[in-house]
Amino acid sequence: MQFIDLLSQKNRIRTALLSRIESILDSGQFIMGPEVIELESRLASYVGSRFCISCSSGTDALLMPLLAKGIGPGDAVFTTPFTFVATAEVISLTGATPVFVDVCPDTFNINSELIGRAVEESVSQGLKPKAIIPVDLFGLPADYKRIKAVADAYRLWILEDAAQSFGGSFNGGRAGSFGLAGATSFFPAKPLGCYGDGGAIFTDDEELDRVLRSIRVHGSGVDKYSNDRIGINGRLDSIQAAVLLEKLTIFDEELEVRQRIADLYSQQLRNRVMVPLIPEHYSSAWAQYSVLASSFEEREQFMLALQKAGIPSMIYYKIPLHLQKAYAFLGNKVGDFPVSEDLSNRIFALPMHPYLKEEEIERICAVLGA
Ligand SMILES: Cc1ncc(COP(=O)(O)O)c(C=O)c1O
Repeated sequence: MQFIDLLSQKNRIRTALLSRIESILDSGQFIMGPEVIELESRLASYVGSRFCISCSSGTDALLMPLLAKGIGPGDAVFTTPFTFVATAEVISLTGATPVFVDVCPDTFNINSELIGRAVEESVSQGLKPKAIIPVDLFGLPADYKRIKAVADAYRLWILEDAAQSFGGSFNGGRAGSFGLAGATSFFPAKPLGCYGDGGAIFTDDEELDRVLRSIRVHGSGVDKYSNDRIGINGRLDSIQAAVLLEKLTIFDEELEVRQRIADLYSQQLRNRVMVPLIPEHYSSAWAQYSVLASSFEEREQFMLALQKAGIPSMIYYKIPLHLQKAYAFLGNKVGDFPVSEDLSNRIFALPMHPYLKEEEIERICAVLGA
């Protein structure tokens, strides 16, 4: 059994995709070809944002808005320690300080009630609070209504980490559209993934769009050889754009199947583990289906039983970022973010992809004792 089955999906789109790739090979427009322009326009209308800037990865999609807004040494940027390292890494790459805020025990997303205290503490340490990066963990958008209220109160701007949530929604709005900018990832395992690295930024802000397009090409001015600012090589390849255009044609259908699979899992597992909570008015893109065992030991037993039955399972995330060696310099210790630490000890993820069969779901649930 596969944790994520990309081959079945590839078989569905293979013929159409090969023809798209062949035409790119014939045109020779490997960088910023017409596929990239078409993809940006399709993605912007999907998300409901004015602008979409495609780029080379989800990590660069997070980094570029921070660069565009001049985030740097002395600035505090708030995010959670219960995320993939890239979320905090980009803050550090600008020279700013990541300030962690614990997550909610049921949604695993940033706890908006704790942001204010973190902001005030950062000021007392001499930092300048600038932005919040909420993470839409496992595909579920964070609580943007409350986060926006806190952000407004403290004059912070929001960079949505929608790396896992493309396709998810909240109150009728699509993931990627909830901040001043939203960043998503097209890493192959993501709900919408390409066949390499890729990402995109969404924004309604025209000036930010202009600066991001410049940063994406080495801070280019009127052309690539006049440089107005420090930038990066952050472009998406035409071939990756073609892969995404093809996958977009089946994306909504795949999202529906993911939702059906999540429902099947939750119905059967509800009495064995804590199943994911999707609050009212939210939908998840189901990048992962993660459940909570009652203890570290029970998780070990569940994962061992799955392994013996030939069923893959994973832990996202085994070590919260404040306890990672890379972030030791922040001076955090065990106990600082108790919810994130507890989740790290009990969480595990089950196979989740649109090609998972009902019999496979039944077998997984049976191994877990449902
Ligand atoms: C929450 C989160 N943020 C950022 C990223 C970075 O995306 P990429 O791997 O495309 O650079 C990921 C990727 O796994 C992620 O899960």
